[in-house]
Amino acid sequence: MASASSATPDTLPAWQTLRTHADQLKHVHLKTLFGDDPGRWQCFTRQVAGLTLDLSKQRWDEDTLEHLLALAEEAGVRGAIQALLSGKRVNTSENRPALHTALRLPRDASLIVDGEDVVPAVHESLERMAELVEKLHAGQWRGATGKPIEDVVNLGVGGSDLGPLMVTHALADFRPEGVHPIEVHFASTMDGSQMADYLSRFNPETTLFVLSSKSFTTIDTLSNADTARDWLTNRLARYGSMSASAELVVRQHFIGVSACPEKMSEWGVAPAHQLRFWDWVGGRYSLWGTIGLPIALVVGMANFHEFLAGAHSMDEHFAKVPLADNMPVLLALAGIWNVNFLDIRAHSILPYDGRLEYFAAYLEQLEMESNGKSVTRQGNTINYSTCPVLWGQLGPNAQHAFYQLLHQGTQPVVCDFIAPLRRYDEVENHDTRAHLKAQHRLALSNCFAQSRVLMLGDDALDDDGPRPQHKRYRGNQPSTTVLLDKLTPSTLGALIAMYEHKVFVQAMIWDINPFDQWGVELGKKIAGETQKILEHDGEIQSLDASSRGLIEAFWAAEDH
Ligand code: F6P
Repeated sequence: MASASSATPDTLPAWQTLRTHADQLKHVHLKTLFGDDPGRWQCFTRQVAGLTLDLSKQRWDEDTLEHLLALAEEAGVRGAIQALLSGKRVNTSENRPALHTALRLPRDASLIVDGEDVVPAVHESLERMAELVEKLHAGQWRGATGKPIEDVVNLGVGGSDLGPLMVTHALADFRPEGVHPIEVHFASTMDGSQMADYLSRFNPETTLFVLSSKSFTTIDTLSNADTARDWLTNRLARYGSMSASAELVVRQHFIGVSACPEKMSEWGVAPAHQLRFWDWVGGRYSLWGTIGLPIALVVGMANFHEFLAGAHSMDEHFAKVPLADNMPVLLALAGIWNVNFLDIRAHSILPYDGRLEYFAAYLEQLEMESNGKSVTRQGNTINYSTCPVLWGQLGPNAQHAFYQLLHQGTQPVVCDFIAPLRRYDEVENHDTRAHLKAQHRLALSNCFAQSRVLMLGDDALDDDGPRPQHKRYRGNQPSTTVLLDKLTPSTLGALIAMYEHKVFVQAMIWDINPFDQWGVELGKKIAGETQKILEHDGEIQSLDASSRGLIEAFWAAEDH
């Protein structure tokens, strides 16, 4: 790891070589790189676990990759991968391992951390989760008035929301047959928007809330939880004596998922309805375990295990395959090349499959909360760029929104196009299947066309006659394409794991800790103080003029 010595990456020999190399390659257009090398697709494409990673449209050549691989070696990436997977304390500022990969180890594996095998406990927690899922799927989980649960609302935010939200949406086609129908919903925002909607529509007798919070201190989640508890106890109070029914209501309508069982108990979650995990699972890496309860509720435990197995096959690849063929490593190196040597600091995530609607939102947290850092692991200020600004949405919709900037704006942007090769095979009606398959071809045509136009610009056209400047395309915007054979629990697991490992490799090269998020703490503290002032329980005079003005505007509106 770059931390093994006190050398920062920009002082490593390969970094210097890459700088000189970039000065030469910066001026070479992607169309020239393709023209010069008919073997680019073979050279820059890798496949594993049902995924194909095409890095041929990056603005690099074979020499670049060689230098980047040298940088990875000099930064100690190989050793860092082993340290991560074997449970070393890679989260240095919090002095603990980051063992999300342990959550997807098969039952017969073993991983000794601090003298103890963590695998049996991982599988025990999955079994506990399976018991709750089976009860709900059998219609045997009854609300306080004896009716089976029909709506489950996950209350969580960040890692306790985005992963489950993204995956349940992506894998909604994988619902198991013949189970009691349960709809899964998500409420994350502290402003109560989602709750207000749900509470106006759902039947309290048949609604169950899952309180998902690693720390069980997150105000966003706890404020939604308190609103839910109030709604349930008020609406169900007429069943029995008030205190008895309040206890029963909380027991039958709340499941807690957290790394802090004592806080769950304090809030009132019944011990039998608590699912636990460990502080060595980072929030944004937690969907593989009990935080994945909403996923298991939608797809069933068998598919959940497929999801874990897909991720595990990517872990095996990451652990064993040489850096030059290692997909997460290559994806990371492409990012380092763009950010640190080509000065491309905007990164767009563009899935061409509506089921991946929340994938960009999920990656925004994974990448930017992990690697949006500006001090090294030793606490020194960094003078090179780290995580780029990352955003995205469904590619077909983004074509009609922000692709104009990609094609003709002044910002260089790197794009990740993501699409499944096969879709709709299982649609029974022949005509509908034919129509939907045609729509899938339409989406893929657009996906492939967009990356080609971004690369070639005007040269994508056969007939490049005279055109005014405003109709011209300069191209040369790099992109990566990730193809899934099909979108299944297994390929989705592999896809997510690939991005997780990419983030880790980049962090090791940048010499930062991807597993903490101290940057979000100050905002929480100041929000607490501001809340007191809004509630007339704090002093406004010492605040800046803008904050004072905003607060006074709020008070004026409240008094109106
Ligand atoms: O505030 C950031 C953060 O801590 C994220 O890292 C985390 O995923 C989210 O809040 C939710 O935290 P918790 O699961 O502890 O409620």
